[in-house]
Amino acid sequence: MKKILIIGATSAIAEATAQRFAKEGASLYLLARNEERLTSLAADLKIRGASSAAYALLDVNDRVRYEEVLKEVVKTLGTIDVALVAHGTLGDQKACEDDVDRALLEFETNAVSTIALLTRLSNLFEKQHGGTIAVISSVAGDRGRPSNYVYGTAKAAITTFCEGLQARMFHSGVHVLIIKPGMVATPMTEGLSMPGFLVAEPDQIAADIVRAIEKKTDTLYTPWFWKYIMAGIIHLPSAVFKKENL
Ligand SMILES: NC(=O)c1ccc[n+]([C@@H]2O[C@H](COP(=O)([O-])OP(=O)(O)OC[C@H]3O[C@@H](n4cnc5c(N)ncnc54)[C@H](OP(=O)(O)O)[C@@H]3O)[C@@H](O)[C@H]2O)c1
Repeated sequence: MKKILIIGATSAIAEATAQRFAKEGASLYLLARNEERLTSLAADLKIRGASSAAYALLDVNDRVRYEEVLKEVVKTLGTIDVALVAHGTLGDQKACEDDVDRALLEFETNAVSTIALLTRLSNLFEKQHGGTIAVISSVAGDRGRPSNYVYGTAKAAITTFCEGLQARMFHSGVHVLIIKPGMVATPMTEGLSMPGFLVAEPDQIAADIVRAIEKKTDTLYTPWFWKYIMAGIIHLPSAVFKKENL
């Protein structure tokens, strides 16, 4: 039976992934900040086949609580097979341009908290000599775009941090998976105008995540075609990139 920790467990992508783990009879530990949603999520996962679904409240910006919460997770799960880090916010880019504190809060939630959590998790997994740390970054981190470059900067920081972690953890037999979704229909993107043919459902992303964990993939673009879209975007000359306002 797999032991799974999910941080930001109430995210739509995390929930779809948890449902797949539940179907396999996994034992889950869910961390998020909304108690009502955590309670119903845990109950639903048990109905779907999870061996157990424990949970605790965690606002990822409350770093003082990490030690206590992770201690409880280890007490409940023992060895952790998979830790999925899924929390995030897509803040209003324009508001971030006008308000330094808002821009920095976006960076705090999307990057600083993730780096802090991964620092603790990597030391834990290193001692275990195994398991997978899966982190949801984004294609937005591959090149800064005017519409979301504060968010993109945070995701780029996570990606680079995880690349370093991959090489460090390789020597301890720990797999670090960087997940780069494209556009996904979740509460985060509700109301945004996105080209329908490019928008994936959370369960498509979840299926790719579970497969990438099994195959010990290093970097997952999901759906797959984002690897090619981003290769094109990364290689566009900056004169064209700026003019086209992509
Ligand atoms: N949707 C996309 O198109 C897309 C594309 C690329 C990458 N991603 C990434 O995928 C991941 C999952 O996002 P999603 O699309 O599934 O969106 P979502 O359903 O809106 O999930 C975001 C989650 O982050 C949690 N969160 C935000 N701030 C938090 C905090 N301070 N402490 C604890 N939890 C916090 C939210 O909890 P509350 O409900 O309590 O606010 C929510 O559960 C994120 O890392 C996102 O950046 C999404």
